[in-house]
Parts: sequence; structure tokens; C-alpha cells
Amino acid sequence: MAHEVGYISRKKINLKGRDFLELQDFSAEEIWKILKTTCTLKKLRGKKQMKKLRGKSVAMIFEKPSTRTRVSFEVAVEELGGKALYLSRNELQLGRGETIADTARVLSRYVHLIMARVYKYETLEELARYANVPVVNGLSDINHPLQILADLYTLWERFKKLRGLTIAWVGDGNNVCNSLLIGASKLGINVNVACPPGYEPHPRYLEWAKMNASESGSVIRLFTEPSEAVAEADAIMTDVFVSMGQEEEREKRKAVFYPKYQVNSELIAKARPGVVFMHPLPAHRGEEVTDEVIDSDYSLVWDQAENRLHTSKALLYLLI
Ligand code: CP
Ligand code: NVA
Repeated sequence: MAHEVGYISRKKINLKGRDFLELQDFSAEEIWKILKTTCTLKKLRGKKQMKKLRGKSVAMIFEKPSTRTRVSFEVAVEELGGKALYLSRNELQLGRGETIADTARVLSRYVHLIMARVYKYETLEELARYANVPVVNGLSDINHPLQILADLYTLWERFKKLRGLTIAWVGDGNNVCNSLLIGASKLGINVNVACPPGYEPHPRYLEWAKMNASESGSVIRLFTEPSEAVAEADAIMTDVFVSMGQEEEREKRKAVFYPKYQVNSELIAKARPGVVFMHPLPAHRGEEVTDEVIDSDYSLVWDQAENRLHTSKALLYLLI
């Protein structure tokens, strides 16, 4: 795949041993290294037996449900020749009060990387503090960087470039939106966020994104009107109105977001021709997105889901 215009680096990038908790901790060059490794590994899938993780094990801790993260990560480990262990929090002694620190110390004696999906981001920080193997964020309340790696890669496949693209995020300024702001602003992508007042992205992420954008030359803008945010967009992204852990707010949130922040054909018609639709999944069809949009030929959702496998494989390849 063609290199990004303006992306020329001769620096040797080594990510071995790093935690992957937060995209803000990675430079644009390091993110590009992961995307380019993804490209190589995606081409090799099924053609070459990979042994990079032979004799290595990965622990996957889940405090919340998952389809894509769990399956793509597990398959990625196995396709690299390693072994993945699915550990639900309640089946670990963590669920009975063993501390995160002690769990991290013990797992580090067995496995070569820990991936965790948690309620609170602080849990990941604590795991990383006490583990002496890399810790990977499989989603938290404030961010979902693994998803954004796959989304950036999917956009790159589609548009053959990233710098200068405009993404409109419509809906909740949630964990996925926070990570999008970081990944996009690092790589020179403009982001227009349309959300109801009170549901903006986390202020720290907005601040980081604006700082990154001033270096990469992109622009970050906030709107309340979805039609204004999508007018110049190359891609429209959304996510559920009610994230995992917010179930008690379901009725209140639905009333705030629906129908104004639904991505439907009417909203798509206000964007440029050639606009694509993206969603991390799982989708609540009929709420944040209609069937006709998610099932359309401009929907990239299945490519995004597939690319979770390839980007996770690249990350494992580089971190272990
Ligand atoms: N997009 C995503 O992370 O999906 P899962 O919740 O199924 O892992
Ligand atoms: N915002 C959603 C993303 C799921 C992948 C959630 O946190 O539930």
C-alpha cells in the first residue's frame, strides 16, 4: 500500500515491551509503524506460518462482554503461533478481592502480555504499574485505542491516504470518540464531533487532540448539529447511545440522542458523495444507525471488524 504523503521516516521504531494503554503515548511515526506492520501481516495471512509467538502466552482479562476484541485478539495470538487465555474477572481471584497489583505480578510470571477490558481506566494503569510484561487496553470507560487502530487502517485502505481526510463523529462523545480524536489528530485527520450539550468528548482528550492537531495541521471542531458536522466529511462515524456500564441511563440517553443524532439516509444525503459510514460495533440498529445505512455499499463496518484482527496481530508482533 502506498506510503502516506509526508510520512518519510528513517528512524528505527522499536515498540518491544511497551504498554498500549493510550494512543497519546505513541508518536505519529509509531502509529504508522503499527499500520504498516498490519499491512504486511494482512497480506501474509494464510500464506505463511507465523512463529513469532511460539512458546508465548497472552492473558486476556474481561470485566465486560466482547465479541470482536475477544475473538480477534485470541485468533491473532494463535495465528502468530502463541496461546491466548480468556480470563473473565469473576472467574479470577480478582473477583474475590485479590488486588490488581498482585494479579499483575502473578500473571507476569506466566504470560508475555496482558490485554484487559475494564470498567475504569485506572485499573489498566494499575495493571501496567505492577506487571513486567506489556499491558494492552481492550477498552475502558474513557478510551478504546485498539478500535481506532483498526479504524485508521480501514480508512487508509479505502482512501489510500489519511492526512487531510475529515471524519464526522455523530452522537455520544464516548470512549471510542476520545480515542478517535487522538489517533486522527496525530495523523493529520480533521475531526468534526456533533454531540448534544453535556455529551462532549472528555476535556483532556479534546485538549490533547487540539495540541496534536496544531502539530499535524489538522482541525478539531465541535458541533451540536449533525448536518453541519457531516457537510465536508469523508467518513461518518457513530457508536451506541448507551455504552457498557451506562445501562441505568438508558432511557435518559435515548431521549437525548434519538432521533436527532441517528445516522440515517437523510443525514448521509447532507454529506459529500463518496462518504463512507463507520461504526465500531456492536450496533443498535434503529437507534444510532438505520439498517439502510449500516447495510449500504458505503458502509465499512465489516472491514473495520475484520481489521481488528490484523491490527491486533501487528500490535502483538511489535510489543512482544
Ligand atoms: N468494537 C468492539 O470492541 O467490539 P466488542 O465489544 O465486541 O469487542
Ligand atoms: N462505546 C461502546 C463501545 C463498544 C465497543 C461501549 O463502551 O460499550
